[in-house]
Amino acid sequence: MRAIILAGGTGSRLHPLTIAVSKQLLPVYDKPMIYYPLSTVMLAGIREILIVCTAADEPAFRRLLGDGSQWGLDIAYATQAEPRGIAEAFLIGERFLAGSGCLLILGDNLFYGGGLASLLQSSVSDVSGATLFAQEVSDPQRYGVIGFDRSGTPNSIEEKPTDPRSSWAVTGLYIFDKQVVDVARGLQPSARGELEITDVNLAYLEAGELSVRRFGRGLAWLDTGTFDSMVAASEFVRVLEQRQGVKIGCVEEVAWRMGWIDQDQLLALARPLCKSGYGDYLERLAAL
Ligand code: G1P
Repeated sequence: MRAIILAGGTGSRLHPLTIAVSKQLLPVYDKPMIYYPLSTVMLAGIREILIVCTAADEPAFRRLLGDGSQWGLDIAYATQAEPRGIAEAFLIGERFLAGSGCLLILGDNLFYGGGLASLLQSSVSDVSGATLFAQEVSDPQRYGVIGFDRSGTPNSIEEKPTDPRSSWAVTGLYIFDKQVVDVARGLQPSARGELEITDVNLAYLEAGELSVRRFGRGLAWLDTGTFDSMVAASEFVRVLEQRQGVKIGCVEEVAWRMGWIDQDQLLALARPLCKSGYGDYLERLAAL
């Protein structure tokens, strides 16, 4: 199983913030946004990761993440020339995937909660078909929305419906088997000229190969698509981190807890980060 983090797009809903800087590099409290989906991928136990971004932003992502070896990862990069839709990531990533299944996560989605790691690890351990993760939201019109029949089986997915059939939104985290590249290749661009992830999901639904895992209320799913939701995500992280004294989305910590780096490597990562206090946190972990 390999993972793609989609960090492309123009970020036009956040202009002028994102004119010169990729949205996924903007801060969510004390770290760049992409650390959160990256740590989610790592908690799933996946170490081979492709970052899909624009050509203009690639040098900045490389400066931040490098080849991932400092965290025990293998990070590759590929560029999306135009924002031609989420599902184009599978075509861009075809060579990287090399016939393996794919966990796709949107670079602006933040997941947090107890049990997330084991849920993800069990979901990627035996992949057939597609697995979506859904959560109830107060504003389903902003998302892909799943409809269910009386027995709770998913029977529809609609992208940003004006009249949603449920409050269950499709989150920006998806697990697909190796068929996904062929499914993406068969798509036609939507009215807005994009290869829609919802059309990929519908293809799996129609083939009877789609399952939905519902996130309960103990799990937080935040996105950062608007000024307000970015501030809300920062505030969420700040409140929990300060109250509990632990960090959320801390890639160094996850690498260490997963056993991919040892204590000495963690200390070496901590040293250059000490002025901000981030490194102090890593040093405290290394002393545990
Ligand atoms: C995309 C998907 C949508 C999904 C959402 C999750 O929307 O198209 O189905 O619910 O991500 O963040 P977008 O961010 O492109 O509006």
